[in-house]
Amino acid sequence: MISLIVAGYETTSAAQAWTLYASLRAPGVWERAREEVDTVLVDSEIGAELLDQLPSVDAIVQESLRLHPPVVVLPRVLAEDAEFGGDRLRAGSRLAISPYVTHRMPEVWPGPERFRPGRWDPQESLHRPAAPSAFLPFGGGRHRCVGAPFATAELKTILAELLRSVDLRLLTDVAPASIIVMRPRRGLPVAVRRRT
Ligand code: HEM
Repeated sequence: MISLIVAGYETTSAAQAWTLYASLRAPGVWERAREEVDTVLVDSEIGAELLDQLPSVDAIVQESLRLHPPVVVLPRVLAEDAEFGGDRLRAGSRLAISPYVTHRMPEVWPGPERFRPGRWDPQESLHRPAAPSAFLPFGGGRHRCVGAPFATAELKTILAELLRSVDLRLLTDVAPASIIVMRPRRGLPVAVRRRT
């Protein structure tokens, strides 16, 4: 229980803040997703079936996890000797695999610094299916996050509820803090107004 709460709370709240930050900064992204939410949800309560019908909301969440992965470094100890990029690595060496660095490699993600939810939409020309080793917000292999589907559903539900109920305005730019769970340094200051 403790692992689930510790691993699932900071990470998801940081990811939620980055999702709002990125979608409020990129021109047109919030408006497009809101149109989708207004058409699909109307007044319904959000459930699993409706979440599957919100591709723009899903694309925002995926693209935000790419550009701002809360878990920046995955530490590992090599179980056996290995070779990587021409270097020999000995068993027992400590390695740091970085989702953050991988997600910003231009040879893997063209124009990596730009927030472009369209990368995740099969209808768009910039869409490319992400290889599992190129998209690591939840890690990979045996220790891949057990909470990934739950966290994604949470992020999408909260984003969709905010889109349909409030107008948000970003008040300042933010800087990242911490490499344990990367989050906006002083939170995310926004002005909130109930949607009329
Ligand atoms: C956006 C939210 C989340 C992110 C970015 C995230 C990220 C990660 C990453 C990168 C790992 C792998 C660590 C490694 O390989 O060293 C991991 C593992 C784990 N996560 Fe998450 N996580 C999130 C949400 C959650 C939630 C909601 C739960 C629980 C309900 C959870 C439970 C766990 C647990 C128990 C592990 C350890 C798995 C193992 O070692 O076998 N996570 N998470």
